[in-house]
Amino acid sequence: MIPVSSTARRMTSSAIREILKITQRPEVISFAGGLPAPELFPVDPIRAAADRVLAEHGRQALQYSTTEGHLPLRRWIAERSEITADMVQITTGSQQGLDLLGRVLIDPGDIVLVESPTYLGALQAFTPYAPRFVEVATDDDGIIPEALDELLGRVDGRLLYTVPTFQNPTGRTLSAQRRLALLEITRRHLVTVIEDGPYNELRFRGQEVETLFSLARRTTPDDDLNVIMLGTFSKVLAPGLRDAWVQGPRHVIDKLVQAKQAADLHSPTLNQMIITELLDDVLAEQIKIIREAYGQRAAIMIDAVARELPTGVSCTDPDGGMFCWVSLPDESIDTEAMLPEAVANNVAYVPGRPFYAAGERRNTLRLSYATSTEDQIRTGIADLGRVIAERLSSRPAADAPL
Ligand SMILES: Cc1ncc(COP(=O)(O)O)c(C=O)c1O
Repeated sequence: MIPVSSTARRMTSSAIREILKITQRPEVISFAGGLPAPELFPVDPIRAAADRVLAEHGRQALQYSTTEGHLPLRRWIAERSEITADMVQITTGSQQGLDLLGRVLIDPGDIVLVESPTYLGALQAFTPYAPRFVEVATDDDGIIPEALDELLGRVDGRLLYTVPTFQNPTGRTLSAQRRLALLEITRRHLVTVIEDGPYNELRFRGQEVETLFSLARRTTPDDDLNVIMLGTFSKVLAPGLRDAWVQGPRHVIDKLVQAKQAADLHSPTLNQMIITELLDDVLAEQIKIIREAYGQRAAIMIDAVARELPTGVSCTDPDGGMFCWVSLPDESIDTEAMLPEAVANNVAYVPGRPFYAAGERRNTLRLSYATSTEDQIRTGIADLGRVIAERLSSRPAADAPL
């Protein structure tokens, strides 16, 4: 056997991918995937944009290009945040942005604070750089500032990774007031914040909230910012384009450029040019369409959950994004062990355990409403309700002898 490196030994494959394999029978209604709705992809505009790009740019669209990314695209991203293009690095998906940030910001043993629960793809991206993850307590309004402050009084946290808007996996959003508190606390404790915002545009209800990045810029010069933000075209255009970005202080972007040069030289030129063609009107229209569709699907799911899941089961009620998060009343119920039973009843979800850095809470699960029809949502949630009710009724009574 060829020995692999210690870095490679730290790598794991995504628990979700393994789980999805068992949910792929066609009759299974799957709320497990994290995929955007494919019927909403702007296929014709992308085809037309590709034709225009090849007609206008010819072979340049197929040539190697700069590591930083296609300048008109970076300028557009920069303008939206009122920053300069040299604060923007294009990446091959936000997932690559997370990996590159791990490479640039994490030394082995560094303490990286993450929400409890958090996006497991970030845990997977950072793990090879050997951090120690510490969970920060959250509630329905996201990270609890007092818990963060107390934690940072005890541990020497270096980085905080957060998805403050329509979080994956919970769908929760950090309140406006807490955003200010989080910035004050992290600045005071000299903690760098990685704000991951793939769902920022997907609000279907309620008031917009300003990003941490934008709030930080109100009081801090760009070179002293402690917030780095990631954005992506995956959820608003199509994830197969693999086009995303990192925005942050220039000295971090300069290091990301070097890291990316080593990783893949640059993101695909053609895709960046196609996306640039779509920025003016197609993107805005897409965002409208997606918000409306996901808003309807979320409302149907939340309604079905309230009616079909047994008393005592709680579920988040997201204002945007793709996910809601279910907690079962009995901590001893293991949603991973319950999954085969759910799949046998033709419904699938993602068990909550892999989303916890410390990995011990087993009575939670993630549901995505993004890719299901109204009928599928109603049928699937009713089936899930029966599976959960069965589990709850078959657990030993609290006072039964052990
Ligand atoms: C919180 C979060 N960050 C990053 C990503 C990766 O996105 P991308 O397709 O841009 O790599 C996802 C994808 O689901 C996500 O949910």
